[in-house]
Amino acid sequence: MRTKFSFLLIFFFIVPLALAELKPGFYSTSCSKAESIVFNVVQRRFSTDKTIPGGLLRMFFHDCFAGSAGCDAAILIDSTDANPSEKDASPNLTVRGYEIIDEAKQELEKVCPSTVSCADIIALATRDAVVLAGGPNFTVSTGRLDGLRSNPEVVDLPGPTVPVSEVLQRFANKGFTPKEAVALLGAHTVGFSRCSFFQERLSNFRATGVADNDMDQSFAEDLSRTCGSSSSEDPTTFLDHGTPNAFDNQYYNQTMFKRGVLKIDQALATDTSTAGFVSHFASDQADFQVTFSNGMVKLGGLGVLDNSAGEVRQNCRAFNRPSTQPPNKGRGQKPKDNKGRKQLSFPFNMFQNGN
Ligand SMILES: *[C@@H]1O[C@H](CO)[C@@H](O)[C@H](O)[C@H]1NC(C)=O
Ligand SMILES: *[C@@H]1O[C@H](CO)[C@@H](O)[C@H](O)[C@H]1NC(C)=O
Ligand SMILES: *[C@@H]1O[C@H](CO)[C@@H](O)[C@H](O)[C@H]1NC(C)=O
Repeated sequence: MRTKFSFLLIFFFIVPLALAELKPGFYSTSCSKAESIVFNVVQRRFSTDKTIPGGLLRMFFHDCFAGSAGCDAAILIDSTDANPSEKDASPNLTVRGYEIIDEAKQELEKVCPSTVSCADIIALATRDAVVLAGGPNFTVSTGRLDGLRSNPEVVDLPGPTVPVSEVLQRFANKGFTPKEAVALLGAHTVGFSRCSFFQERLSNFRATGVADNDMDQSFAEDLSRTCGSSSSEDPTTFLDHGTPNAFDNQYYNQTMFKRGVLKIDQALATDTSTAGFVSHFASDQADFQVTFSNGMVKLGGLGVLDNSAGEVRQNCRAFNRPSTQPPNKGRGQKPKDNKGRKQLSFPFNMFQNGN
């Protein structure tokens, strides 16, 4: 009896609070054009730069899949001498698309000032870019707040050679199933990577005298030509050499032909805990898209619930000054002190689709 009662208590207290913060169409009355404004900005950019989806996906993962905070737009804050930000923590991570977020923000501020958070703009823009690249559409719940901290100090950057078991563990820690983890890595279908992240695979791999045996040899030769031998330059190449700019399941297909670029891409296809998902997604595009969409929705909810210190930034690159801090319109959150530091972690190095 008592157990049942406390269960119900928890249910009623936790669930409504948790769900109250994000909802589809959060801006439908406060800024009814919010989603179409973001879409139009992304579409304009996409028409001249087909690599934008990879850059935005990277930004979204970078922002949301972080240690103690989550989707709070901390990634957008520009560093100052006095306050180094997350951008500083990752000079090599090369997230792209900051200007898209700025442009959307400027247009939104004209129409509905201090209303639409930068964290929501990232989430919406990423979804729109996926759709434009031919991927699935999914509903992005909104109502996030922008964080009041951006701290580069606690950085944990596992590289692209991280074992599959560790990848799955990191995703599991955030509530993702192995199948969802494999689907989210499918974002590499529009990703690209600097050569330095896989160059060791191309020749004398781990002192074997030859290229990585898990890579198709002619593919290794192609990549060697792209990457060259100069260590001063660090060229980039696509992660899906089948259909690099299309959001489809060819990334999985390629790895089944030993054409995975990063060690982790290839390992997903061979590790017994993930190989089944890879071959499934390679032959079932529809299920890949559904699983990916569900994973993105989950990702977009990370850190939003228990990190209520926030604001709606007027400029995504800077915190509002206290005197100009707007009310958190309709969000029902009382700002409280956020002692948690945002921890940079996987999959920063995993999603090498920056430039
Ligand atoms: C970042 O880039 C610098 C110079 O290009 C390189 O020395 C360093 O190893 C890179 N770090 C990572 C984590 O790739
Ligand atoms: C994607 O779905 C949302 C509703 O969830 C809709 O508002 C939006 O227009 C759709 N985007 C495209 C490009 O069809
Ligand atoms: C992968 O792509 C190749 C070439 O387009 C195609 O022949 C093959 O059927 C695909 N395999 C799977 C599992 O989708």
